[in-house]
Amino acid sequence: DWNMPDYISEAVEKIREQVGTDEVILGLSGGVDSSVAAALIHRAIGDQLTCVFVDHGLLRLNEGEMVMDMFAKNLGVKVIRVDATDQFMGHLAGVTDPEQKRKIIGREFVEVFQAESARLPSAKWLAQGTIYPDVIESAGKGKKGQTIKSHHNVGGLPETMKLQLLEPLRELFKDEVRKLGVALGLPYEMVYRHPFPGPGLGVRILGEVKKEYADLLRRADAIFIEELRNTPYEAVVVPGFDQDGVPRNWYEATSQAFAVFLPVKSVGVMGDGRTYDYVVALRAVQTQDFMTAHWAHLPHALLGKVSNRIINEVRGLNRVVYDISGKPPATIEWE
Ligand code: XMP
Repeated sequence: DWNMPDYISEAVEKIREQVGTDEVILGLSGGVDSSVAAALIHRAIGDQLTCVFVDHGLLRLNEGEMVMDMFAKNLGVKVIRVDATDQFMGHLAGVTDPEQKRKIIGREFVEVFQAESARLPSAKWLAQGTIYPDVIESAGKGKKGQTIKSHHNVGGLPETMKLQLLEPLRELFKDEVRKLGVALGLPYEMVYRHPFPGPGLGVRILGEVKKEYADLLRRADAIFIEELRNTPYEAVVVPGFDQDGVPRNWYEATSQAFAVFLPVKSVGVMGDGRTYDYVVALRAVQTQDFMTAHWAHLPHALLGKVSNRIINEVRGLNRVVYDISGKPPATIEWE
């Protein structure tokens, strides 16, 4: 149990001592960890920090704008936004294997990040939002040498970069990182968002990734998330119990929820015409640790509304299905 203002001033002091007057670069992904790291380091050293935000074209709806608003506009952080959509789509063209896709996205990420960093030759430090569970996990991985899915995160340090590592969140658990983020002025909604994988929509578009598919998926996903947030969660209220952890809506009642694009066409009818369009699957799970998960028993009325809205609002999609698979045997992501 620590006192937040004290923790922040201690962490700020430590960062200042570590980097002195050096410049620092940080790969901002829009995720919680790199965002909190950026906010903390910016609090410590201000303009000595430059963030590089690589948009791979596989982000959620309006995510790029949100990141820029939050950091560049509201917090005054120096952020270089790189729109690398074409480069990523180019390298992903024709590739259908999930692991191959992950490798390409990871590799291109490092490539784009390195190219941007080369334009900041005075930087001496590379900051990363590594948190305590990441430290544990990568220690374990080395021994076993095998992963079910190769987890690519933004910060993988390229060997060729002669930079020292700055990892101010290394000792923190996720809930501590979130509290720190709120205390540093990041929006609550952002800090308490569901996790989003590094390869982004790349692992939620089955098979070959195309910009056209990503655009359809983004819109369906945004509708799903909006309805989850807007639908109250009917919790059983137990008198005398601390109700702090009670979810207010279905977004908070689920651990992760998203839409998946299936490159399959099916027949439908719309007005007096026949349609032949793509399918999206909705996935919502509840879990403590993401190692095992239950599919969420979302209210049918909510599912129905999401389905109607997606089919009516997103031309190009005419069918919505709900994933009722647990983990195991299914994984949370479809790839
Ligand atoms: P699975 O699909 O393995 O996912 O049940 C478990 C959790 O890990 C996330 N995930 C990833 N995160 N890079 C990431 O940063 C990845 O390649 C990746 N693959 C899965 C997934 O979203 C879920 O929270």
